[in-house]
Amino acid sequence: MTPAPSPAELALPIVDTALAERLRERMATVEEALFGHATSRAPYVTEAARHLLAAGGKRFRPLLVLLAAEVGPRPDAPEVLTAACVVEITHVGSLYHDDVMDEAELRRGSDSANSRYDNLVAILTGDFLFAKSSELTSQLGAEAVRIQAETFTRLVEGQILETVTPGPEDDALQHYLEVVAGKTGSLIATSARYGALFSGAEPAVVAALTEYGELVGTAFQLSDDILDIASETEESGKTPGTDLKEGVPTLPVLMARASTDPGDARLLELLDPEKSDLANDVDLHAEALGLLRKHPAMEEARAYVVARAQEAKQLLEVLPEGSVRSALEAFADVVAVRSA
Ligand code: IPE
Ligand code: IPE
Ligand code: MG
Ligand code: MG
Repeated sequence: MTPAPSPAELALPIVDTALAERLRERMATVEEALFGHATSRAPYVTEAARHLLAAGGKRFRPLLVLLAAEVGPRPDAPEVLTAACVVEITHVGSLYHDDVMDEAELRRGSDSANSRYDNLVAILTGDFLFAKSSELTSQLGAEAVRIQAETFTRLVEGQILETVTPGPEDDALQHYLEVVAGKTGSLIATSARYGALFSGAEPAVVAALTEYGELVGTAFQLSDDILDIASETEESGKTPGTDLKEGVPTLPVLMARASTDPGDARLLELLDPEKSDLANDVDLHAEALGLLRKHPAMEEARAYVVARAQEAKQLLEVLPEGSVRSALEAFADVVAVRSA
């Protein structure tokens, strides 16, 4: 298992060393503040709330807040740091809940909270973190409270919609893309938006970065879905194959299902929940994963993700050329071709 990246390392290649250093320093401040916010008067709650923070994670969302803040005249405004904490705490809260939904045992290379404690503790700790992020957001003013509430509504709706099977009249791919935009695009869009907003960027720049974040967030989740199938190790700190096991038909599965090639008959049978119980039959689950990994749908899904990242980068044309824009472009590229 690869250890979680040290918070001192940025999960992003940044060519401009002065920019990289500035971001590293601010990320260190955010890191310390995060642990301070995940504190309760009950020591047991503090321990549970810090469990996933201490386990690591890429800290992509706070990093995006800080990077997006570089587009405005006040990148070091204190509100930017608070907003960076808000998005990571919201994200971590959603991971506590997501691992209950997905019955996941591993998160950030450690036991998930539901397996270390139990579902009840995991759910209530997620709630505690959401409450903390709301408290923090209130320091940012009424507009931030509204943005945060709307973001959270979309995130939770996305998670709920994922559990709903689209009807025969519905377009399954469209349904899934809505799920992804809601559960992941929303908070990553808000991360870019907060950075631009609290650094005092022009409204048109705030709008472009929000849209960029939404597309990058979508690409990020779709990449994650591809990795869930493609990765054969627990390098991501999670257990691969979880989506198939939980019956969540992600992009490669939806693309494979559209195949009319007779050679795909066995795979399609395995992917049909009426015919195959992948949740309980480990052999069928392994067979489905093996067939999917070498199916052309994987490349098709990767090309789809790269196209979304490309669209995201085009939105950056409102920014002057330079190291900040290059770093935001690199962010979109890294997300599209993630390996962990
Ligand atoms: C995991 O997010 C949940 C998804 C939206 C795919 P991350 O991949 O950002 O997880 P951490 O924060 O690095 O653990
Ligand atoms: C997680 O989606 C989305 C949120 C936490 C809101 P997934 O279930 O696909 O993410 P992982 O693979 O568990 O990180
Ligand atoms: Mg999950
Ligand atoms: Mg999930």
